[in-house]
Parts: sequence; C-alpha cells; structure tokens
Amino acid sequence: MSVKPTNRKPGDPTTTGHSWDGIEEFNNPMPRWWLWTFYACIVFALGYSIAYPAWPMINRATPGLLGASTRADVAAEIQRFNDANAPIRARLEAADLTAIAADPELNQYATNAGAAVFRTNCSQCHGSGAAGVQGQGYPNLLDDDWIWGGDIDSIHTTVTHGIRNTTDAESRYSEMPRFGADQLLEPAQIAQVVQHVLAISGQEHDAALAAEGAVVFAENCVACHGEEGKGDRSVGAPNLTDAIWLYGGDQETLTDTVTNARFGVMPNWNQRLTEADIRSVAVYVHGLGGGE
Ligand code: HEC
Ligand code: HEC
Repeated sequence: MSVKPTNRKPGDPTTTGHSWDGIEEFNNPMPRWWLWTFYACIVFALGYSIAYPAWPMINRATPGLLGASTRADVAAEIQRFNDANAPIRARLEAADLTAIAADPELNQYATNAGAAVFRTNCSQCHGSGAAGVQGQGYPNLLDDDWIWGGDIDSIHTTVTHGIRNTTDAESRYSEMPRFGADQLLEPAQIAQVVQHVLAISGQEHDAALAAEGAVVFAENCVACHGEEGKGDRSVGAPNLTDAIWLYGGDQETLTDTVTNARFGVMPNWNQRLTEADIRSVAVYVHGLGGGE
C-alpha cells in the first residue's frame, strides 16, 4: 500500500482507511431507505419461516404455523374432482359393458377418462396414438385385426387380467412352442414352414419348399393358427395370412419366431387401475375404430 498525498477536501466524510494507489474509499453510511428495507426483509423472512414451510429437515421441511401445503391443496383438488365424478363413475361401474356406447353421457365420460388413462398407462407400449410398435410385439389397437378379440367384453377382459403375466391367475395365456430351440423341428422343416407362411401371407416364396412347408404346418401349427393360418382368438394365435405382423413377416423374422417363439406379455391392470378406469380405457380403445 502506498501512502500518497490525497486530494481530500475539508468536510469530506472519513475514509475506510483503504487506499489503493492513492484511491481511497469514503466511509459513507448506507442510505436509510436501504437499511430499513434490509431490516424489513429480515423481519419478513423470520415471520415467513415461522408461518410457512421453510427449513429443510431430514424427511421434510418444517411445516409452519399456518399449515400451508401445496401438496395438500393438490390432494384436495383431486378429491374435489373425484367427488364430482363419483356419481358417473358409479354408474359406469354398474352399467352393462355393451350398453355404455349407447348412453351418450356415460360414453363421453368414459372416452375422455379412458384417453387420459391410456396416455398414462398404455402409450409406452402401444404408442401415444395406439398404433402399436411394429416389429416389437405391441399390437396396433386402431385396426380391426384382433389377437384376443375386439368386442368391448374381450377388450375389458384383456385389460383387466393382462396377457401371459404371472401376476394374475386369470391372465390370458397361451404359449407357442419353441420349434427350433427345443428341437421340435429340424432347421430344414423350419425353412419349409417359413416359406409356407410367406406363401399364405401373399409374399414372394419358394413354391417347392412352401409345398413341403404346408405339411409341416398342418402337423405343427394348425392347432393354434387354424387350417388356413387365420389364427385363433381363444389362444391368442395371430392371423398369419394378413399383412399385419406383431413381430414381422419377412423370412428372417419368421424364422426367428418359429425357432424361438415370442411370448408377448402385457400386465394385468386390475391391481393398478380402478374398475371405472379399466372400463373407461376399454371404451376408449373400443371406440378408436377397430372395435367390434
Ligand atoms: C408393458 C407393455 C404394455 C402395456 C403397458 C400395455 N400393453 Fe396392451 N399389450 C401388450 C402386448 C405385448 C400385447 C400383445 C400380447 C400378445 O402377444 O398377445 C398387448 C395386447 C393388448 C390388447 C389385445 C389386442 C388384441 O389384438 O387382442 C389390448 C386390448 C391391449 N393390449 C390394451 C392395453 C391397454 C388398454 C393398456 C393400458 C391400460 C395396455 N394395453 C398397456 C403390451 C402392453
Ligand atoms: C400352442 C399354440 C401355437 C402353435 C402350435 C403355434 N403357434 Fe405360432 N403363435 C402362437 C401364439 C400364441 C403367437 C403370438 C405370439 C406370442 O407368443 O406372443 C404366435 C405367433 C406366431 C407368429 C408371429 C406372428 C406375427 O404377427 O409376428 C408366427 C409367424 C407363428 N406364430 C408361426 C407359427 C408356425 C409356423 C407354427 C408351426 C410350426 C406355429 N406358429 C405354431 C401360438 C402357436
């Protein structure tokens, strides 16, 4: 620090004593308005932290004397909606499933509520527009191609109990054998039956192999997929003759399916959704266009 002559004038406030190359700092008091605002802030903060949730503790913040809680506000708000909807939800639960569509008020409520349920619970697998995920086994729910059935009762059962899950004893269940992995068929037979599936689905195929494949198909596949390969809803065996595929209809994917099988699983929703929600989402899916 250098001490040089300063150009202080008489009557100037005292300085703080700091001096940098002769530049000194006046020791002016803080302006009154600033100080009072500052004190007011302290008083306000103390009062606020006593009245409202403020200090973080291990599990939650101090609750505050006024008991304010935005979480409780949300809960109350939800309760208010639930109370308001209780009568119509009770009607929905009591109604005959097939009669819901004919009751405009119920149908509208169920469709709207079902759309919300679908966005939250179903869109991860079936896609936000319910178009499914091609090639991954998540079926399109918009078309009129149904694996287990597209009438309102079937959809309701599928959603309630799910498919091939281990958490619901009434889950829809069936299991395609692993023809290759369990050596039920020779690789050559698999190649033949795959050509047959290509043939019945109207794709390019090797006619000679397909003819032999028809025999393999008749012996191994018709029990579930039917004589003509049109599928069987009672065991959830898909139609193999249309261009709609859960996993894919090209030669490579078909070979993989027949070799290893698939075992698509859908959760049962009766543990997670209320009956009114399940009915709503069933009505919503049924109304998407493919409903029977
Ligand atoms: C974890 C993924 C997953 C979720 C979440 C899911 N699904 Fe599914 N869903 C599947 C799979 C996989 C299948 C096809 C199973 C099969 O191969 O038979 C399926 C099949 C269906 C079917 C039968 C379609 C048919 O053609 O018969 C319906 C209806 C359905 N889901 C509705 C729903 C609804 C409604 C929800 C939401 C409440 C939902 N799914 C949530 C995976 C899911
Ligand atoms: C016990 C019943 C059963 C038998 C027997 C069976 N399947 Fe399947 N198959 C199914 C089921 C159920 C599915 C639905 C996929 C799953 O397992 O998730 C399926 C799916 C398929 C698929 C997939 C379709 C798609 O949309 O991607 C193909 C292809 C197929 N089977 C071909 C065959 C052939 C070929 C045979 C005979 C060699 C055969 N299946 C025998 C029940 C059976």
